[in-house]
Amino acid sequence: MDRLRDARKLLVLTGSGVSAESGVPTFREARSGLWENFDPLQLATPEAFLNDPALVWRWYRWRRDLVAAVEPNPGHFAIARLEAVVEELTLVTQNVDGLHQRAGSSAVIEYHGNLFDTHCFARCPGSEPVNPATTDDSPPQCASCGGWMRPGVVWFGEAIPPAALAAADQAARSCDVFLSVGTSSLVWPAAGLGELAMQSGATIIEVNLDGTPLTEQSHFVLRGKSGEILPELVNSITV
Ligand code: OAD
Repeated sequence: MDRLRDARKLLVLTGSGVSAESGVPTFREARSGLWENFDPLQLATPEAFLNDPALVWRWYRWRRDLVAAVEPNPGHFAIARLEAVVEELTLVTQNVDGLHQRAGSSAVIEYHGNLFDTHCFARCPGSEPVNPATTDDSPPQCASCGGWMRPGVVWFGEAIPPAALAAADQAARSCDVFLSVGTSSLVWPAAGLGELAMQSGATIIEVNLDGTPLTEQSHFVLRGKSGEILPELVNSITV
């Protein structure tokens, strides 16, 4: 894959598929997807949290425990190795599991936050994150205002953290290769990054088990598991 080997600025966008082989559920896949089995409106909106903070807190605790018990897979490690291959790599992940960092990727742009972060629901100015590793059934209180602390993830209807939004946007406009891995390309604004990159003349490569809205616009489509395809891909451009 000469285009990847010769990339000066590579943007990698990952979704839950990259963590699937670690044992982390994806969102929209039939049967196993989280949104097939849980209602996002009851668990992943600010309104849901206000309605039942303990339910939402417990659901995120379950997800944290699940992620803490698994390991990065060869797909994560292959992406980390790419840093030494291309001149400039930007990694944007929609995942909140921290597995890219655990695999050695540096400067990961977390588009949808992180399961292990917390912030004050009211975002009061004096608030400090707390360690969410608690067995409490209810969310902790903000030490500053006494309100609820909440998981540091982006919920439906919420804005992407501005710094992540700007950095990803800039990387999409300036990359010469865009590599989409394990995302259904259905959730905006992340889904728009591929389009931005394409408009800027980048080569689009998709690694996915299935077709997505990005597939038709991709120059190269690598169909299969990212934990198998990515190591082969990175080996092929490093040896
Ligand atoms: P989805 O569940 O929408 O899509 C997962 C994608 O991964 C699908 O296209 C699968 O075909 C693919 N896939 C599954 N296993 C794979 C594997 N082993 N190798 C390669 N591809 C594989 O998940 P996301 O695209 O990540 O947002 O979803 C985007 C956002 O929607 C999430 O960040 C989350 C969710 O609502 C928030 O929570 C804000």
